[in-house]
Amino acid sequence: MIRRDLLDKYDKAVPRYTSYPPANFFNEDFTERDFKTHLVSSNREKPENISLYIHIPFCPMLCFYCGCNTTITRNDKVIESYMEALKKEIKKVATFLDNTREVSQIHWGGGTPNALGIDLIKPVMDLIYERFRIREKAEIAMECSPAYLSYDYLDALFDMGFNRISLGIQDLRTEVLKAVNRAEPALPVEVIMEYIRKNSVAGVNLDFIYGLPMQTVESFKETIGRASALHPDRLVTFSYAHVPWFRKAQKKLESYGLPDAGSKLKMFEAGFDVMTSKGYTPIGLDHYAKPGDELSKALANKQLHRNFQGYCTRETTGQVYAFGTSAISQMHSAYAQNTKEVAEYTDSIMKNRFAINKGYNLKLDQIVIREVVNEIMCNQRLSWELLAERLVIDDGVARKMTRNNEAELREFESDGLIRLHEDGLEVINDGRFFIRNIAASFDPMLKDEHINYSRSV
Ligand SMILES: C[S@@+](CC[C@H](N)C(=O)[O-])C[C@H]1O[C@@H](n2cnc3c(N)ncnc32)[C@H](O)[C@@H]1O
Ligand code: SF4
Repeated sequence: MIRRDLLDKYDKAVPRYTSYPPANFFNEDFTERDFKTHLVSSNREKPENISLYIHIPFCPMLCFYCGCNTTITRNDKVIESYMEALKKEIKKVATFLDNTREVSQIHWGGGTPNALGIDLIKPVMDLIYERFRIREKAEIAMECSPAYLSYDYLDALFDMGFNRISLGIQDLRTEVLKAVNRAEPALPVEVIMEYIRKNSVAGVNLDFIYGLPMQTVESFKETIGRASALHPDRLVTFSYAHVPWFRKAQKKLESYGLPDAGSKLKMFEAGFDVMTSKGYTPIGLDHYAKPGDELSKALANKQLHRNFQGYCTRETTGQVYAFGTSAISQMHSAYAQNTKEVAEYTDSIMKNRFAINKGYNLKLDQIVIREVVNEIMCNQRLSWELLAERLVIDDGVARKMTRNNEAELREFESDGLIRLHEDGLEVINDGRFFIRNIAASFDPMLKDEHINYSRSV
């Protein structure tokens, strides 16, 4: 049980730090010219390998809880022209890149990429294989909804080299799926997992959400128990983010009554207890990995990393070049995000332009702070010496570039959440549940009180 007094004390609005600076700082001053400049300079920056992200914004139907950027359509014409634009965008970006660098990660996200026929996926994968050098052990992943998976579909993914299947389960109980309007799995999750295991080397991730209608602490505990018995390589329990003013369909869930904050916390703790008692390694706040999994090994070696696609290792993640609507390229010194509108994206790309809508040019101090935030959020420690070595900068100069709020850090220490030492800090005990707060102590951009960040735990 996480100490309730500490939860109250640190219950503050802080960023999730999926990126630094957070995406709400991206701005429209970032131009196509900036994007081109950064594409070129990223060829010489570290890490030198390449990550590719492909965004498919389409879903056949809307899950009422959905917080993702998605367009509900089955219109073949819209989808086909989007896929044409996607290929054109890949070709265009590739001309700016030094393609002797290796691709270590390819991630298809959405939306529901696996609701598209293989005839639409394969030409994009063929193009990627044609234009880039793919590392032998590259991670090639797709976020899949089990509602649209068949044996043939999985076989086709394996043939194209996919070696990680991320299944959005959300809940194993029919009554929950019905309440949230989520299509049920085409095949039982157990059967899908067995098929993947027997017919491929692919790792399997399972996504769950707690805080949905019809869920109780007991039912969620049972769900995670059943899921852990399937031995997924990784599992994540997302806290349901209810933002009906932003995602209107979420309003429909209120008629069922939603679990309150206290129940949600107990669901999170139940998930944590089940997964850790089965020997899984907790990663960050709410992810779990098998002990032999690359993420667990990376955490042990302090080589864990994170990008918009989720947790990864320092070895897998590269400069991220992202394609499709809302996709965010993450380079050493800039972020660039495409427009979220399908028609605008397709039109722009087909007119031989980019579809960048916002972005951010990072200055050196922000690159330093990003590294600090990553180390705390992923590896639960901070070593100024190692950080300085990695960024080729003096460690005293690096310290001064961050907020480094001593008083706040001493407070975390007296609460038994971190151990401070000359070279930085270690997150200890329950500190893992407060990593967002700890990271925030180094963030000088947090002065703006008006931004509506979610609560830290
Ligand atoms: C980008 S979505 C795409 C996955 C895929 N479309 C599916 O539903 O299986 C990735 C994950 O985000 C999570 N998610 C979606 N909406 C959420 C919300 N409102 N709050 C918390 N997690 C959410 C779900 O667990 C989902 O699997
Ligand atoms: S399938 Fe995934 S992306 Fe699509 S509506 Fe459901 S949760 Fe959202």
